[in-house]
Amino acid sequence: MGCATARVDLLVAMTTLQGKIAFVTGASSGLGAETAKLLSRQGATIFGIGRDTARLAEVFADIERGSFASVDVGSAPACKDAVEQCVREFGGLDVLINIAGKHQMRRTESMSDDDWTEDLAVNLNGPFYLCRAALPQLLERGGNIVNVASIAGVEGQAYSAGYCAAKHGLIGLTRALAVEYTADRLRVNAVCPGGMLTPQIEQFTAPENPNYDLIMRTASPRGMMQPLDVANVIAFLASDAAVAVHGAVYRVDNGKGAG
Ligand SMILES: NC(=O)c1ccc[n+]([C@@H]2O[C@H](COP(=O)([O-])OP(=O)(O)OC[C@H]3O[C@@H](n4cnc5c(N)ncnc54)[C@H](O)[C@@H]3O)[C@@H](O)[C@H]2O)c1
Repeated sequence: MGCATARVDLLVAMTTLQGKIAFVTGASSGLGAETAKLLSRQGATIFGIGRDTARLAEVFADIERGSFASVDVGSAPACKDAVEQCVREFGGLDVLINIAGKHQMRRTESMSDDDWTEDLAVNLNGPFYLCRAALPQLLERGGNIVNVASIAGVEGQAYSAGYCAAKHGLIGLTRALAVEYTADRLRVNAVCPGGMLTPQIEQFTAPENPNYDLIMRTASPRGMMQPLDVANVIAFLASDAAVAVHGAVYRVDNGKGAG
């Protein structure tokens, strides 16, 4: 009996993105592409941004209703324009999902000013620019934000000073907005994935003579996840099924943090 009730509730939850307009960053590959396609299957209209127009076009071939644009999230004016384009094309914005990110491993003592600035631009400034631009629409429509951080946002990782600092900052941004808009019809949450099999992982290059024991500290004893494992949690948080989840930081790490 309990089981039957749970199944009905799950079906209801899966349809709660029907009619919603979702703005998804990083939609050209990996987790962003998987999330855009999942939300589309759940009835949402998708406005996707990324850096690779050809890859965006491939992803959007599987999306029933939506459009895409090539946008650098490190540019505040470009983020503002993209939000305006979404609102112009689809009449509003209900869900902002900040997934775009970049992780480059570097020894801290050899990082340039530009390396540090780039880590923060993509992983922290971009989500801020987009939250700021989307807030008026989200507040008006009772929407929500899901920020994709990382386990690097809740613990240290070697050769990742800029990425770690940015992802910790993204969790701080999530919590700050959750408190600031507590009296409003807005939810803001963060997801912290562990290792997923995506192009980001495939393109990793370790710095010279790394300590592999330190790098392997990020691995889950259960192995790598598929992007869909994390996209499912994002879809839940974006849906009305998560009505009471606000200011939460969800680890989705295949048991890595269990101790
Ligand atoms: N793959 C993992 O193991 C892992 C683990 C923890 C967190 N994450 C996070 O998950 C998110 C998705 O990563 P992924 O693994 O799918 O990587 P990915 O490399 O497949 O995707 C990254 C996406 O970000 C976009 N992007 C990069 N720089 C951009 C910029 N300046 N402007 C706009 N878009 C830009 C790319 O076009 C791409 O669509 C990232 O935020 C990443 O930090 C990934």
